[in-house]
Amino acid sequence: MKKHDLFAAMAAQGLALSYNDVELDPGYSEVHPQQVSITTQFSRRIALNIPVVSAAMDTVTEWEMAVALAKLGGIGVIHRNLSPADQVRHVTRVKHHLHGRIDRPICIDPRERIEDILAKLDRKGWDFRSLPVTDGDGRLAGIVASTDLDFCLDRSRTAADIMTKHDLLTAPPETTLEEALAIMQRRHKKILPLIDADGRLQGMYTWKDVRRIKSENGQLHTVDAAGRLRVAAAIGVRDEDLNQAAALAEAGVDALVLDAAHGHTLDMLEALRRMRAHSCLHEIDIIAGNVSRPEAVDALVNAGADAIKVGQGPGSICTTRVVGGAGYPQVSAVYDCTQQMYCSAVNDSILPVPIIADGGIHHSGHITIGLAAGAACVMLGNLLAGCTETPGEEVFSQGARMRSYRGMGSLGAMQMAADGGRDRYHQGDMRKLVPEGVEGLVPFRGSVADVLHQYLSGLRAGMGYVGASSIFVLQQTAGFHRITPSGRLEAHPHGVFITKEAPNYRSPQQAAG
Ligand code: XMP
Repeated sequence: MKKHDLFAAMAAQGLALSYNDVELDPGYSEVHPQQVSITTQFSRRIALNIPVVSAAMDTVTEWEMAVALAKLGGIGVIHRNLSPADQVRHVTRVKHHLHGRIDRPICIDPRERIEDILAKLDRKGWDFRSLPVTDGDGRLAGIVASTDLDFCLDRSRTAADIMTKHDLLTAPPETTLEEALAIMQRRHKKILPLIDADGRLQGMYTWKDVRRIKSENGQLHTVDAAGRLRVAAAIGVRDEDLNQAAALAEAGVDALVLDAAHGHTLDMLEALRRMRAHSCLHEIDIIAGNVSRPEAVDALVNAGADAIKVGQGPGSICTTRVVGGAGYPQVSAVYDCTQQMYCSAVNDSILPVPIIADGGIHHSGHITIGLAAGAACVMLGNLLAGCTETPGEEVFSQGARMRSYRGMGSLGAMQMAADGGRDRYHQGDMRKLVPEGVEGLVPFRGSVADVLHQYLSGLRAGMGYVGASSIFVLQQTAGFHRITPSGRLEAHPHGVFITKEAPNYRSPQQAAG
């Protein structure tokens, strides 16, 4: 059935559908799952190689998750249950994790003392140790490398005392990544400063980064124009959050996610307008949410959002709908919101402002369904919470290795949060908190790379069944049908005792804990 017909028929009866209510119609296919394209957009200016975003939750996304996901082609959103300085530090760690060409290398002055240099690196959260030394005119005077720092026991010495100044390997500013790799390999040097005709430092390559980019499937990475991994960060909607937005921008954040459980509010619209008007945020995409109705999408797009997060209450740890009685089943929410986008699109072949389907995804098939309903990408909390790269605490429960996972509106998360974090649920100044989420455990699942291999292969398989060669084709052509309770039973393994767990399957009972 055409998706528009199904959703229109449901809407006519006042019904809305969630992931477990629908399936996609298999269709004629010439598409091989391994050949489908799953590239997409996160926001107006940020493209992704895989349609996956990690949730801004304190048991899911800090720098390690953001780095791992950006390397796989997605993007992570650093949560905001951190002090402002710590959130900036997490962004900084991602932005300095991997560089292609470093356009503005961090340089040191020949007179700087080693103890001051080390203290600065630590304070800023910079984990690199290869530092060009430049004079007052920006001319390269030498290099201080990690071994120079390691072997310098007298920390009162200066950079000039320990730097290498002779036989420096340099290259012209226009040197490409490939050329840099070849030069460094030939000369066994780990740093390649790029020098103009006047001897001024114009950039730098490091062996560690260049080799990693070449060997780790670098073409998959989500990177900015300078080849640095991209990262987003969650931010609140209060006046004072603008300062934090500016600090995150200075640290190089690529996108800011205005983080509220209900995004169709005056506070959200004003925060969006304030941020849009702030000069230091012009280059940064701003994502607004969460909403679930099309008129909310309209309001946020008009206020300047570069992507919209859809999802009010579908999350696995959410109790918003139970506590407040309000929310919207996720597949209908995504469909309705994306249709609104098509209506306001200049050219209806592309979504000008991508929709991010946030929450409620338990199987890889749900990813296919969310994208087919119209989302450009999905935000995952639960599915990533069991990964090695999360900050979630590891515990053993009944002999099984588990990771803690909790809602950002759970008591535990809100008690730990500063007022700003509680504001997501309008509880910044409440003495007795009213949770809208729960705290729990999910099974340990291994690395993000292994987990996403399973889930994205599931997405590819789904696209093969539908006959969709890209996410765009999936959105345009996928047919949907509604399933009955017996159809749902039939879809899951039945009449069998499962004796061996599959890496990509959890029964509804297991998923429910
Ligand atoms: P999943 O289903 O992936 O959902 O676990 C993750 C999303 O759930 C949202 N979230 C919450 N919603 N109460 C809520 O109602 C909460 O405590 C809570 N914490 C997270 C959020 O949008 C996240 O991306």
